[in-house]
Parts: sequence; structure tokens; C-alpha cells
Amino acid sequence: MALTDFGDASLFDTHAHLDQPEFDADRDEVIRRAAEAGVGSILCVGIGAESSEAAVILAAKYPGVYAAVGVQPNYCAQAQPGDWDRIVALVGRPKVVAMGETGLDRHWDYSPFELQQDYFDRHLRLSQETSLPFIVHTRESDADVLPMLREARQRGPLCGIMHSFTGSVATAEECLSLGMHISFAGMVTFKKSDELRRVAATIPAERLLVETDSPYLAPHPLRGKRNEPANLVHTVACLAETRGCTSEELARVTTANARNLFRLT
Ligand code: NI
Repeated sequence: MALTDFGDASLFDTHAHLDQPEFDADRDEVIRRAAEAGVGSILCVGIGAESSEAAVILAAKYPGVYAAVGVQPNYCAQAQPGDWDRIVALVGRPKVVAMGETGLDRHWDYSPFELQQDYFDRHLRLSQETSLPFIVHTRESDADVLPMLREARQRGPLCGIMHSFTGSVATAEECLSLGMHISFAGMVTFKKSDELRRVAATIPAERLLVETDSPYLAPHPLRGKRNEPANLVHTVACLAETRGCTSEELARVTTANARNLFRLT
């Protein structure tokens, strides 16, 4: 299988932590390898105020890099007074195309759950005020995330991404009905992920996105290694096979979805 057989379609990695220290030694090379692999656009996603500011600086430096700004749920407890104001101040900066990542995480016990809910609510409200899409991280928390999305939907339309989706068909259906996009990362390629691939096959093409979540969760056959945006080709090939389309078709539709969602068209 030719992993780079995307025709002239370019891939959009909608979730990568390019600012993280894992990339300090070779960030230029990582972005060059991504472009060579056909990954022309990368959304660098912040996990806190400093990380979000770093994402904005990277977006200014690299033409194909965009920034998302926010406080990741596991980092809420580390946020200092004034950090949320730093996030708000980044909204409207060039190439800031999304809020996040935000959401809820019951797997790790790094931040009190009520504090995570408070920050998730702030992101949801700011997204609705600014019309910037929000990026949701949920780990063992679908039952807590969905009520907050429903409540936000009562206030107005939702525009957002369920990132690195690992939920059920029912959760996906409800997220879709609330207006969300669904993004798949390397986990969908793992040998034991038959159920997740079954879920991925049900997502309407116009709501589908792809991501690496670099430097985490490298796709099969690179599992366990540092992940990087160039590896998106493996996830795209797997999803195309799962959905019975070509990699080129999957590349075209997911990139068009991302560009529409991030208002780059
Ligand atoms: Ni992430």
C-alpha cells in the first residue's frame, strides 16, 4: 500500500503538540518531514497559557502551522492567576483558529474535577462568543462531557471537535447531533481497535477529521515511538480501508472539513 498516494491532496493534522520539549531538538526537521509526507497543515494545540503562547509563535514561524489556545484538563490545577486572561488575549491573534484543548479527564488525578468543569465551561462560553471551534479531550468522562455539551447547546450552536475519539457509536451519534466533528488519532490503527474502527466507519464524511496527537500515541506500525505529524499517513490509510474509500478521497474530505471548520477557505 502506497502510504503517500494522496494525489495532490494535502493532509491536515488537526491535533499536534509541536511546542512540547520532545520536538526541541528537531522541530524544523519534523515539520519538513510532515510536508514531504503530504501533511501540509498542522494545528498546534496548547495545553496551558505558556504552551498556547508557544503555539502562536510557532504558527507565526511556519506557514502550514496554526494554533489552538487553551488549558488542557490535566493542567488546570497548574494554571496561575491571570493564565486564563493570557488565553483570552490570544484569541484574535493571527492563525489562532481554535480554543483548546479543553474537556474532562477522570483517568489521571492531576486536577480537581470541579476545576476541570469550570475551565471546560469557560472554553465553551468563549467559543460561543467568538465562534472559534473548541477541541474536547475526554478520558473516562463521556458521561460528564455530554451533559456539559448539551447545556452549552441550549445557549446556541456548537462548533467543536471530539479529539482522539475513542467513544461508542452512541456517544459519537450524540456528539454529531450536537454539531460536533469527530477526529481520529493513531489508536484507530491499533490491532485491538476493531470496535473503534467500527465506530469510525459510521461517521458521516463531512464531520470526519484526522490527527496525530503528536508526540503521543504513534499509529501502528510505529506504536511506542515518538509520534510526529508525518505519521498521519498511517492513520489515514487505516481509516480509508475501514471506510472503503481511497486514501486520496479521505485526505480531500478531511482537509476540506478542517479548513471549513477553522475558516481557512
Ligand atoms: Ni492533545
